[in-house]
Amino acid sequence: MRRAIVRGTGHYLPERVVENSWFEDKLDTSDEWIRARTGIERRHFAAEEQRTSDLGILAAQAALADSGLEAGQIDAVIVATSTPDLTFPSVATMVQAGLGMRHGFAYDLQAVCAGFVYALANADAMIRAGLADRVLLIGAETFSRIMDWTDRGTCVLFGDGAGAVVLEAAEGQGTSADRGILATDLNSDGQYRDLLYVDGGVASTGTAGHLRMQGNLVFRHAVEKLADTAHRALDRAGLNTDQVDWLVPHQANLRIIEATAKRMHLPMEKVVLTVADHGNTSAASIPLALSVANAQGRFKPGDVVVAEAIGGGLAWGSVVLRW
Ligand code: ACO
Repeated sequence: MRRAIVRGTGHYLPERVVENSWFEDKLDTSDEWIRARTGIERRHFAAEEQRTSDLGILAAQAALADSGLEAGQIDAVIVATSTPDLTFPSVATMVQAGLGMRHGFAYDLQAVCAGFVYALANADAMIRAGLADRVLLIGAETFSRIMDWTDRGTCVLFGDGAGAVVLEAAEGQGTSADRGILATDLNSDGQYRDLLYVDGGVASTGTAGHLRMQGNLVFRHAVEKLADTAHRALDRAGLNTDQVDWLVPHQANLRIIEATAKRMHLPMEKVVLTVADHGNTSAASIPLALSVANAQGRFKPGDVVVAEAIGGGLAWGSVVLRW
């Protein structure tokens, strides 16, 4: 049975680091409030001339270097993003060109903060169906471009960045002992569109718009839905939570992450945390966390890793893989 295994990871964070205190003289907020309510201490913001594709190319190059592969050996590029450089062409084709690839295919996927989980499920299905042997998956965002800097309930939460993963086909036995992606679980419910959305777009205002969120309602859905989706994916993989070595959650809010880990009966030592340093980088948050933890040598071959995320839509899901 064909499985999609992780061959390499990489990431890029823009140079500019903005501490919580930066917001204090602009808004009625404080470092103390942001840390206590979210766990965020700082975030990176892209330079004015840096676009999402620039971040994505740098993360992709790092992932290729880590995997020991050249761009010429990649069959497909998927970029999960909600902050593309342009309405079209896709960021993925810009990354493809930036890597010097003239073959294969590239496309963007938009499921907001759940984008990378959706992209992993997408690439897994393509690899298993034989459409591609090696897929370069990137989560890249410049959420600083869609912030309302007068809204303290949102602009302190988000950051910019990109993470990338190279997936490669490998033969497995079809059991939960295989390496690679073992199970996925995707969900969405469009009746919740007003909880988290951007108030602009090509076919509505003709502008990019700003992010709007009813944070406390999203919070409640997140706590309820993230553990559920992780349990469903683990069931499908034939594993239980005792067998999980690492939880790699979407890095939106430390309190959501702690509540999810508690519902899954996982100690926080098994949870990868980057939220303090990155803030919420939407679709980039999981590949950033995977890459940071991998660079620290935390994942050992055979470890069971669960990634989960929720975002605008609402859209949410999880992936279970064996490192
Ligand atoms: N500084 C100080 N006070 C603030 C700030 C701030 N930055 N932001 C909000 N407050 C205030 C509110 O105005 C409110 O004041 P009031 O009681 O006088 O009205 C008070 O703090 C409490 O507000 P809540 O929204 O209830 O606070 P909560 O504890 O829920 O924290 C937060 C807000 C951090 C946004 C939280 O709800 C959250 O993290 N939600 C989920 C975010 C998320 O996971 N989104 C999904 C992914 S994002 C994506 O898909 C793009």
